[in-house]
Parts: sequence; C-alpha cells; structure tokens
Amino acid sequence: MITLGIETSCDETACGVVRNGRVLSNVVSSSVHLHASYGGVVPEIASRYHIEYINAVVKKALRNSRLGFKNLDLIAVTNGPGLCGSLLVGISFAKALSLALSVPILGINHLRAHLFANFIEKNNKNMPRFPFIGLVISGGHTNIFLFKDINDFKVLGNTQDDAVGEAFDKVAKMLKLGYPGGPIIEKSAKRSLHTEIISFPKTYLNKDSLDFSFSGIKTAVLYYIKNKKLTKKMISKISYSFQESVFDVIIEKVLRACEKYKINTVVIGGGVACNKRFHEKIKRAFLSRKISIFIPKVTYCLDNGAMVASLGESLFKKGYSSRMDMSCATDLGSLA
Ligand code: KG4
Ligand code: ZN
Repeated sequence: MITLGIETSCDETACGVVRNGRVLSNVVSSSVHLHASYGGVVPEIASRYHIEYINAVVKKALRNSRLGFKNLDLIAVTNGPGLCGSLLVGISFAKALSLALSVPILGINHLRAHLFANFIEKNNKNMPRFPFIGLVISGGHTNIFLFKDINDFKVLGNTQDDAVGEAFDKVAKMLKLGYPGGPIIEKSAKRSLHTEIISFPKTYLNKDSLDFSFSGIKTAVLYYIKNKKLTKKMISKISYSFQESVFDVIIEKVLRACEKYKINTVVIGGGVACNKRFHEKIKRAFLSRKISIFIPKVTYCLDNGAMVASLGESLFKKGYSSRMDMSCATDLGSLA
C-alpha cells in the first residue's frame, strides 16, 4: 500500500510518501525565514507560502520516491489543529488529488501524527507498545495523552496559556536571539557554565494537575532582564536556567502521569523534542524506573509529511477514512 501524506498546519509545506511503513520520501519546504523578523509565524505569510510551494513539494516527494500519482492508494492530510488558512491549502490540495485519482482521503490530527512518528521505521520488536503516555511538545501545543490503542486515547493535560515551544520563541525574542527560539536557546544554554542557575519559577499548578502553564516563567524572564545590559554570558545563563526550569516541570508531569496510570512506555513528539538537553534530562529521570522513552529522530520531530502518511496508512488499514466534506478540525477527537 502506498500513501501520500501532506502537512501544511503551520510554516512547513511538507509531503511524504510511505509504502507499508517504510518512508520512500520526505520533502519539507519551510517559510521560517519569512517569519524570522516578526519573532513568530505570520499566518497570512504562511498560507501564501503553502499556495506557492505545495505543487512543487508534492511533485518532488513523488519524484524522490520514484513513483507517480497513479501508484497512490491513499491521500492523508493534516486537518488540524493548526492555522486554518494554512490547513485549508493542504486539505484542498488533498481533496483535489483524491477526486482526480479516485483514491480515499484521510484527515490526520497533527498532534497524534507527532506521537506516531515514533513508529516510523520500527518493526514489531522495537516499536512502542500500547498503552503509552504521549507527550507533545511543539510550537503550538503542550499535551499529555494516554493512548490505549491507535485510535483510543484520552487527553490528560493541556497548556493553560503558552505552549512550550512558544515560550522558547518568546524568550528568545526578549533576548534578541532570533527565531525560531528553541534551537538558539539550546545553543546559548550550552555555552553557560552551568554552575550558577537563576531560579525562575516552575509552575506545577496543583499537586495532581497534568496541565501546564509557561506564562509565569516567561514574565519572570522579562522582569529579570528589565533595565539590565545583557552580556553574552548573562544570556547563556538565562537560556540555561529557563531551559532547566521548563524541562523540570515537563518531566515531573510525565512522571506523575506514568505513576497515576501505571504506564511504563512514554512516547514523545514535536519540535521541542529535538532538544538534546531534554533527552539527557528525561532519560536520567527515568533511568531507575524501567520506563521506556521513545523520541523520533530530528527529521521526524519537526513538522513533516512522512509522519502524516505513516499514521494515515496505519489508520486506513484499521478501516478508517474521511469524507469529502472533511475540513479544518480544532478538536482532538477520535476518528469515527
Ligand atoms: O512541531 P513543530 O515543528 O511545529 C509545531 O507543530 O508547532 O515545533 C516547532 C517548535 C518551535 O517553537 C521551535 O522553537 C521548537 O519547536 N524547537 C525547539 C528546538 N527545535 C525546535 N525547542 C527547543 N529546543 C530545540 N532544539
Ligand atoms: Zn508540529
């Protein structure tokens, strides 16, 4: 079975081709450079970029897979959550393909695709096992899920304000480091001596809560830098301290979820999961607990079409497909 996956939820125009679980191609064209001077994604610029590039990206993905349109068995497309104008470009393109080629279409939830990126290029022996705790840490979301099966899940925690990636991006903007903030903060933090740490607030909300809030730490950074002339050394110290506090909170919440639901597999996805310091910290925290941690390789952590095709193929094989009147979805609901 051959599936084409289209992803246009934010600032990446992406397309991947998957054959029976194997990625044949994965092409990503990002408009990130066009948003850099604004310190965040400008939705109208992102949609216009998708319109301009989607044709070329899909064609390149097919060319790289050495296949043609006539070989496709399924069109999978991200249908939410994301920027509506951006999503609509991918959805409309996918619908046109589906109609023209007479192949089924399947709308894919972006957050679930991030998690199921952990199943790419895995076999029965080394893939994550259900039930698992899913953690999505991206530019738009911070979520904890309990997955009992591919389409049987519950949202355990959500962000109350800023998403974790958004907090990285905003702090980077305050420190005048550039955009996207995550990789730059990580690099700046590495330069810090790690001996001295600023105690930025760690917001756990109440004792049992699996929700997140990052607006407090963001404001704390803002107050900390107010009226200070920042040196490179100070910026590194702030980056390191911010990163440590944020990751401590996330790891603690994942631990709580594992304990509460007695789960020993954690599956992580989203752009922030690229962060090497996060890998170090979470692996160390879980070392003595016999809990397996899964994080995709960088290509599959960031927005991409292969993860959409891959989850689409697995769901289709279980009997799921979407109707032609499918549109942008804002919820996390199961497929019917
Ligand atoms: O998953 P993603 O590509 O797009 C969304 O679905 O939002 O995530 C993008 C986010 C951005 O906020 C970016 O700053 C963050 O992921 N990010 C990182 C790193 N690389 C990307 N955050 C922390 N450390 C990184 N190395
Ligand atoms: Zn994403």
